[in-house]
Amino acid sequence: MEIRVHDLRSWTHDRHHVVDDMPYGGGAGMVLKPEPAFESVEALCRGPESRVIVLSPQGIPFTQEIAGELAREAHLILLCGRYEGFDDRIPRGLGALELSIGDYVLTGGELAALVVLDAVVRLVPGVLGDAASAQTDSFVTGLLEYPQYTRPPTYRGMAVPPVLLSGDHQAIARWRRKEAIRRTLERRPDLLARAVLSELDRELLAEVEEEDASPSEASMKNEKLTTDN
Ligand code: ADE
Repeated sequence: MEIRVHDLRSWTHDRHHVVDDMPYGGGAGMVLKPEPAFESVEALCRGPESRVIVLSPQGIPFTQEIAGELAREAHLILLCGRYEGFDDRIPRGLGALELSIGDYVLTGGELAALVVLDAVVRLVPGVLGDAASAQTDSFVTGLLEYPQYTRPPTYRGMAVPPVLLSGDHQAIARWRRKEAIRRTLERRPDLLARAVLSELDRELLAEVEEEDASPSEASMKNEKLTTDN
């Protein structure tokens, strides 16, 4: 693939290459003007094969599913904002997909564009060393990933779960699925609510909920850290 970076200021016509202006109606900050945005996208556009994306906190949430869709496109144009935002005619008039990478405000869309770029590019065939790994990623399967361990078997008093050393592949697969469900329940109940669960998954979820009803001392301590304040 080929990635190019363009300066919005190259599509201005004044001596100072101004790309922003004061907001109509008043208020703090500056707004990106429509002319350089439209002219830049029109100059870079290759026709219907080009998909225009605007990065902004007002966009729809960027997800793995959207990354998958974008990975199949031939040409993406990512437009980054600075200042207080875009004149609203920019995303509207360009027919752009407006994306946010999360509920926080960056000083500009550049890092957001890099995040989108990275998530999309690794889904393009041939980019990942092990093609299978993209298939088992969190969010593709709908659950967070199970905990992973490598050597040594005990480190600073923390032991690798014995089942992983057992060589019993069926028991390992069951343990991994159960721990994926546990993590998702604890950290991302919103994902678990949307996940498609098999009969075995429901059985594992019931086990996890049963275990959580009588939590260990260690998990109570962790709970405290996240609820104090
Ligand atoms: N620009 C500023 N904040 C952003 C965010 N959270 N996502 C996308 N673009 C942004």
